[in-house]
Amino acid sequence: LHRYSATRHPVTGLSPSVGGGVRFGAMRFPSVIAAALLVGAPALVAQEPPIAEHGPQHTLMPVPRTVTRRDGRLRLDSTFTVAIARYDDARLRRAIARAVTRLEARIGRPLSRAIGTDASRATLVVNVERAGQTIQGPDENESYVLDISAGRAELRAPTVVGALRGLETVLQLGDRDESTFALPAVLIDDAPRFPWRGLLIDVGRHFMPIEVIERTLDGMAVVKLNVLHWHLSEDQGFRVESKRYPRLQELGSDGSYYTQAQIREVVAYARDRGIRVIPEFDMPGHSAAWFVGYPRYASGPGPFEIVRRFGIFDPVFDPTREEVYTFLDGFVGEMSRLFPDPYWHIGGDEVNGVQWKANARIQAFMQRRKLKDKEALQAYFNQRLSRILTRHGKRVVGWDEVLHPDLPRNTVVQSWRGIENLAKAAEAGYAGILSAPYYLDQIQTAEEHYVADPLPGWTTLTAEQQRLVLGGEACMWAEHVTPETIDSRIWPRLAAVAERLWSPRTVMNVDDMYRRLAATSVRLEAVGLTHESHTERMLRRMLDDRPSPGLRAFMEAVQPVNFGQRARMEPLTQQTPLVRAIDAARPDPPARWNTIRLVEAAIASGPPNDSARRVVRERLTAWRDAGASVKAVAEAKPSLREVQTAADALSRVAAIGLEALDMITTGTRPAPGWGETTLAELTKYDGPQGLLRLVVIAPVKRLVERAALNSH
Ligand code: ACM
Repeated sequence: LHRYSATRHPVTGLSPSVGGGVRFGAMRFPSVIAAALLVGAPALVAQEPPIAEHGPQHTLMPVPRTVTRRDGRLRLDSTFTVAIARYDDARLRRAIARAVTRLEARIGRPLSRAIGTDASRATLVVNVERAGQTIQGPDENESYVLDISAGRAELRAPTVVGALRGLETVLQLGDRDESTFALPAVLIDDAPRFPWRGLLIDVGRHFMPIEVIERTLDGMAVVKLNVLHWHLSEDQGFRVESKRYPRLQELGSDGSYYTQAQIREVVAYARDRGIRVIPEFDMPGHSAAWFVGYPRYASGPGPFEIVRRFGIFDPVFDPTREEVYTFLDGFVGEMSRLFPDPYWHIGGDEVNGVQWKANARIQAFMQRRKLKDKEALQAYFNQRLSRILTRHGKRVVGWDEVLHPDLPRNTVVQSWRGIENLAKAAEAGYAGILSAPYYLDQIQTAEEHYVADPLPGWTTLTAEQQRLVLGGEACMWAEHVTPETIDSRIWPRLAAVAERLWSPRTVMNVDDMYRRLAATSVRLEAVGLTHESHTERMLRRMLDDRPSPGLRAFMEAVQPVNFGQRARMEPLTQQTPLVRAIDAARPDPPARWNTIRLVEAAIASGPPNDSARRVVRERLTAWRDAGASVKAVAEAKPSLREVQTAADALSRVAAIGLEALDMITTGTRPAPGWGETTLAELTKYDGPQGLLRLVVIAPVKRLVERAALNSH
């Protein structure tokens, strides 16, 4: 129930009744740091620079394990050539060809497509020992060394997958000065901290065509993620072609499903990028779409329909009938040939037990077998399903509800209802992956995801238990996203999660993360993602015209309300067009962190920072004036009328900021009580303004607090 409940937040684990620290189960997040992060006070944030270096700062994301800068640069121009020095195969050649194409686009000159074998003459030498695993698993070696001098670059890796990771680093290092494009001379020795670094995409609630999946895989490769967790069945849709049980897709998908050829294409596309594809067929709950075509396997009476609303529903597999397991054995047998990964996700979340309770035969079965509650019945189902999957060579992954004394020991537990479930699973001897703090659908900041560590320094797990923590997965649940908006909900925030899972734990400087995230976001659009451009495109459709500068300024300072707020405010179904301002808005827009940093610079002690103050003034002025500008647009375009509340609020907040900035600049004393009254007014604007939230309240509060000090 948690994603829909107002009482507990799946991202932070915070319940409104728990004040102070963020609850991380046995592990506590020091509330002083949490507070510092919330107001962006940099002095309290861990200040370790990510690496020792000289020269311009790099924008690598994720930050490698070690980076040693050297003097000089390796110029890349039309004389650029690549050689494969040792192990050579088609996957490696395709990866090099893609890298050369991307380099060519950045350099703006034609580059040679020929891949030589003479290492002594090439600009970039790729030196790989072996192919790597035939079917990539979590124990694949992804390490690489990148050795760049002014004369040439060498990429050394034990496996092709390591070389793929290193090629992405090469592309991120490339930099242009006035006249030349070059790589800095550098020695990078890199390997991931966690072997399981994933993204879940839910294609059940909203179907995502193959091109969305493939561009997402391209983005994942850029930030070195290695697992696509493909959530393929839901109450709202069954999305894979089954030749054995064709009514699954014929009646359960509205015609929106992947053919088996498309599945093979995606699996091959992912493998080319060193990414595993793990299918999830959610069972026994979240399964209404299966029963539209095959009602006999359900616990309740049919007929069944594809569910259009969102939430938790009653249809559930009947664990008591042998023919259900015969069906599942046939299904797994067919699908296990499409999905070569050694792991398979059985779902297991949010079973409400309503149909089990209402079925006298199921109740009698439970009594006979001494299964005392729905959890025990689900554990029985999981055991039977696990045996089937083991027979087909698969290791089972399940959501944390599967954790039960009867759960087979080699199951991997995916923790989503709170980070404490990861520790609980490890303490009980189960491998685990963390998702609770990485729910992208919740519309949190990149920073909030970034500071959540699967194994924080204060973990109470033993060394052996810690080895059971395989990594994490961000989750893109798709109630509120479409092919047009999904990029903006995944990116660039996923890059922050990718760094948390790849880089050393000590890489945790939020300010530096945002600096590199800005560069990464541009890179991600260059490989075909649309997370920044979708705003303009959607506004144009709403307006039948280009947006005004005022409307653009407004959109930069707002973000969507969070998942629960939207679910409560709007009666959404699968068929609701998601084409409004909230859909055009972006989570955690760059203006949030940028304004926090600028305001800190503008009010820092010491000589006044005039340039920071000038930029703050310009921005606040644009936001103050956006209210009137949006009003003018909204009068002509009813589709935008709903943003008027937020635009007026932004206008007022910005006006307050300007007033405070004037006091700070001129040393004017505010009237008695001004500070408190004004902060209270700002707090009023902190919640949803319609379906949008302002992202600049915190820095304006800082300005007011600073101006109020003038009275002392
Ligand atoms: C889930 O969010 N129901 C796994």
